[in-house]
Amino acid sequence: MPFVEYKNSVQHIESLSVLALAEQYPTPFYCYSSAKIRAQYRMFSDAFSHLNTLVCFAVKVNSNQAVLSLLAKEGAGADVVSVGEIKRALAANIPAEKIVFSGVAKTEQEMEFALKQHILCFNIESEPELLALSHVAKRLKITANISFRINPNVNANTHKKISTGKKGDKFGVDIEHAISLYQKAYNLDYINVTGINMHIGSQISDVTPFDLAIQKIKALYCELKVLNININHVDFGGGLAVKYQDDELAEPELLAQYAAVVNRHAEDFNCRILFEPGRFITANAGVLVSQVIYKKNQSDKTLLIVDAAMNDFIRPTLYDAYHKITAATQNHRFECVDVVGPVCETGDYFALDRTMEVVEQGDLIVINSVGAYSAVASNSYNSRPIIAEIMVQGDQVAVIREAQSVDELIARDKVPSWV
Ligand code: LLP
Repeated sequence: MPFVEYKNSVQHIESLSVLALAEQYPTPFYCYSSAKIRAQYRMFSDAFSHLNTLVCFAVKVNSNQAVLSLLAKEGAGADVVSVGEIKRALAANIPAEKIVFSGVAKTEQEMEFALKQHILCFNIESEPELLALSHVAKRLKITANISFRINPNVNANTHKKISTGKKGDKFGVDIEHAISLYQKAYNLDYINVTGINMHIGSQISDVTPFDLAIQKIKALYCELKVLNININHVDFGGGLAVKYQDDELAEPELLAQYAAVVNRHAEDFNCRILFEPGRFITANAGVLVSQVIYKKNQSDKTLLIVDAAMNDFIRPTLYDAYHKITAATQNHRFECVDVVGPVCETGDYFALDRTMEVVEQGDLIVINSVGAYSAVASNSYNSRPIIAEIMVQGDQVAVIREAQSVDELIARDKVPSWV
């Protein structure tokens, strides 16, 4: 079921039309389909239901409490990268024993907090980080479960800013140093070696790099076994692509290919398998609804200037990301336009030279596939307050994050008496 689709020529999110939503909530706003998030999560976890697995949703992708609570009820764990994300996961009732802590630079304060919560595992990314964790764990007399995030040196064939598993990337430990690090960790106080972790990048649409990386992880797993270092789980990270464009592979098909790779290797790992998907679960469950403020005809092009901007949604300018843009009301007439925002930056665009349905001043547009890495990356540049997020379930709708006001923004600033 699509959940985000045209019905009677009007874009709907489940049972509610975007036109009706925009009467109730001022544009721009993010809107998510809860049924779509649930369906994506179930599709992912069902693909591995015959294995002993834990699906840890990557909280950085969409950290709204409503989204996390929904996933918690589905049984999801969480992959977090800061103490803030741990607190968000716990507040949404994701139990600590389902939380893995990733990130290249966990501070000692963050480690202390996570240790006191007794999280499932720290994914360690360097020797100094290992030593810092051992130090904190010893002081607190709480044993830390750890895995090393291995950099398997494979090319994920994705955008250069979201590739993480090649030599030279800042992430993980080089695979050739892994054994000596595991031996070191094994002998440290208050450190319990439990896992092997990898995450090679994001929006990966060819499963070969996963296959290559898992083979390397398997070789390491076998070597550790010979050394009597027991591994309780392997964590294959996230990274599975979603379909942003019509000519891209549909998500069920890509998942089937990915599951085939995992299944081919799963038997060789006599342990639990963790995943850290993010984008796959929420990307296509979200839209950004925006209104055309002006339609401006330049000599060489037509510009749609809309009320959302790069501060609300930065993926197009940051990653050259393609997001389908549709008219809220279908009319089957097309023209080529640039869709831009009001911010004073040339990079403030959502699409350049895009052929899309004709819309006029005052009309609503829908920017699609923005349920991942979108609202979470918004900021208040140009003193534009953070916009609202709403969620739909059937014919119900709720605000899941209030829009900020300009007054709130200004109130955060403090003027010292000496100014
Ligand atoms: N695990 C770790 C350790 C990660 O760093 C990430 C994403 C994930 C899991 C989830 O990956 P996913 O399944 O969502 O691909 N802001 C960029 C993407 C950055 C990816 C960061 N790491 C974008 O908008 O494309």
